[in-house]
Amino acid sequence: MNTFEEHFENIFSGQEPKTLYDPIVYTLALPGKRLRPRLVHLAAEMFDGDNEEANKVASAYEMLHNFTLIHDDIMDKAEIRRGRPTVHKKWNTNTAILSGDALVVTALLQLYQLTCRPEIVLSVAKLFAQVSMETCKGQQYDLDFETAESVTIDQYLMMSQMKTAAMFAGCLKSGGLIANADEESLQALYDLGIHLGIAFQLADDLLDVYADSEVFGKTIGSDIKDNKKTFLYLKACELASEKQAQQLHTLFSIPTEDEVTKFQTVKAIFDTLKVKQVTEEIISLYINKCLDDIERIHIDENKKLPAKTLILNLKNRSK
Ligand code: IPE
Ligand code: IPE
Ligand code: MG
Ligand code: MG
Ligand code: MG
Repeated sequence: MNTFEEHFENIFSGQEPKTLYDPIVYTLALPGKRLRPRLVHLAAEMFDGDNEEANKVASAYEMLHNFTLIHDDIMDKAEIRRGRPTVHKKWNTNTAILSGDALVVTALLQLYQLTCRPEIVLSVAKLFAQVSMETCKGQQYDLDFETAESVTIDQYLMMSQMKTAAMFAGCLKSGGLIANADEESLQALYDLGIHLGIAFQLADDLLDVYADSEVFGKTIGSDIKDNKKTFLYLKACELASEKQAQQLHTLFSIPTEDEVTKFQTVKAIFDTLKVKQVTEEIISLYINKCLDDIERIHIDENKKLPAKTLILNLKNRSK
């Protein structure tokens, strides 16, 4: 039985041209959490699915994820990812665009290697395409919101559901599909992915301000620098006094030379308004939704334990 890493490592080794594949090998070798493959396997294992089939789907989603990261780092002007220079910084933007594209196409080729029933392969491939489109839409909303006059928390949640949670949902449902899970369980797995993904993005926004950058592997304050309308920013605007609201609005709409002062001022407002605690509360709310979703999966209680552990660990996320 091949582990996910054994299966994954072989896909890109020795491919030409090196100028296309080196940035891919570089990215995939960096210490990512491999959360999406884990979700595919978790769902497949709930229904005693085939490990090799799960490896193919898990690889496809980890490639899709890494494609989004490489392109996201161009869009967000990010210099550090997983503690190392981003692809567009280490090479250049053209290289980052093309190696990202190559990753997502290779992901599709993984799905065509599935040997389960053709109708299942079709369902998995269609879901993969749908999830990819959701991600693109979410990414566009994320960029549009940088310059939007007003964004609501509901709009933020919708955007996070698209840019991050849809992929989580795709992973879990596909794991169930290849393992022949029943319709109700497939829906519960999908919903679980949505709620887990939103919790994950909320935690990511929190860490962008409050993490230890060494552990997080990304530059702290990048969302504030980019005027991202994160949950923290939107909640702060809601809780702010008139003066603080005006200050936030100005800081997020007028270009600044002094990013350090901008970050410190915004963080001080977040601290005064206890935005970190409010964000932790809403993360807990989404984690509870996840636990409810798990109840709707038609398997023995003891088979739910690995998924429950993963969900509860999200509360202690530091990277
Ligand atoms: C980062 O995802 C992108 C978001 C959805 C916030 P991860 O935090 O799962 O990235 P890696 O794969 O572990 O680096
Ligand atoms: C994550 O958004 C969504 C995707 C990469 C599709 P972020 O922009 O918050 O992700 P990080 O923080 O750069 O990993
Ligand atoms: Mg982004
Ligand atoms: Mg980013
Ligand atoms: Mg982020």
